[in-house]
Amino acid sequence: MTAVSNAAEPLDVQPTPLALLLLGREADPRSERGVECPGDLPSPSDPDLVERARAAKARLGDRVFVLGHHYQRDEVIEFADVTGDSFKLAREAAARPDAEYIVFCGVHFMAESADILTSDRQQVVLPDLAAGCSMADMATAEQVAECWDVLTEAGVAERTVPVSYMNSSADIKAFTGRHGGTICTSSNARRALDWAFEQAGEDGKILFLPDQHLGRNTAVRDMGMSLEDCVVYNPHKPNGGLTAEQLRDARMILWRGHCSVHGRFSLDSVNEVRERLPGVNVLVHPECKHEVVAAADHVGSTEYIINTLDAAPAGSKWAIGTELNLVRRLANRYAPEGKEIVFLDRTVCFCSTMNRIDLPHLVWALESLADGKVVNRIQVDPETEKFAKVALERMLALP
Ligand code: 13P
Ligand code: SF4
Repeated sequence: MTAVSNAAEPLDVQPTPLALLLLGREADPRSERGVECPGDLPSPSDPDLVERARAAKARLGDRVFVLGHHYQRDEVIEFADVTGDSFKLAREAAARPDAEYIVFCGVHFMAESADILTSDRQQVVLPDLAAGCSMADMATAEQVAECWDVLTEAGVAERTVPVSYMNSSADIKAFTGRHGGTICTSSNARRALDWAFEQAGEDGKILFLPDQHLGRNTAVRDMGMSLEDCVVYNPHKPNGGLTAEQLRDARMILWRGHCSVHGRFSLDSVNEVRERLPGVNVLVHPECKHEVVAAADHVGSTEYIINTLDAAPAGSKWAIGTELNLVRRLANRYAPEGKEIVFLDRTVCFCSTMNRIDLPHLVWALESLADGKVVNRIQVDPETEKFAKVALERMLALP
């Protein structure tokens, strides 16, 4: 469980399977996603926002370290001390023991992971508490505990190792640590699965949470398993919608979760762009559906996408299936080098929760810190932190 606080005492809040919160200034006490913003949030039309962010950052000096996920807006990325995918940012947070404040420009589960990996002396701040992740919300601690009971009942729990995607709450990470599993990101999912199958032993299985697509794509595309080796556990159905026999026969038990942004790319988008741009290379994130990944030329994490485009020859054409802020930034960055970069789909849009972090929220967070007031602190409770850290450290130790 995580507390978020703008007050002196951390709130006692339970993670809730949320749909989207209405935007506003009030907090939802049942969720981790208060949207309260005490004090004055600068107006988006304030012409001095850039100057104010610079000044507040300068006042804080080395006391603050700003992390920016690749899906953040340009106006925010400009102030990041380091940018990266979720794996790189977790490592960067762990490698900054001297920064008193880590301002995380990303989403809630990333800030939680940063809190887990930093010392108790350091404080992690998420500039807008409404920056959650719909995928992470698709697996709650209660649902996952129930799933484990179902696996136990079917006689497979003792041969099953949980592997949880970074895009999950601290509670799910703690469950993973308690049951001998590891966290993975889209850059190391293959290595995490190899490690987990080794731990699981003969006839071993993986419970992969919460992104069914990353689990399936890694198992089938990268490890040569068949689609029949994978079953999908639906937390909204009795026994996950699976029989004991199906669970016993499966190698990958995939949680029924997905990313609402990447899940919208379709096979039609791939076919359409190939027709429109002959010779185009299709490069997608592994959170896309299996049929999209199977039809793509290259698949990888955001960091992989950036490195691939960096190394691409002048004159090459690329259609990218990932979040729009990143694709637009890369298209602008590489256009002068003669690389043509387009968005894979005409209708898929930004990640709305990543986009919650904007310059006014960043200015508000930095100025508050510079004035000695810690706002929007993300703090994981010690018991959850202990086991979530075990799982995260297993990931960081993967070869
Ligand atoms: P990576 O940063 O691991 O590529 O994940 C993408 C994503 O969806 C983050 O929310
Ligand atoms: Fe979550 Fe998808 Fe947004 Fe990443 S892009 S934060 S997985 S909803």
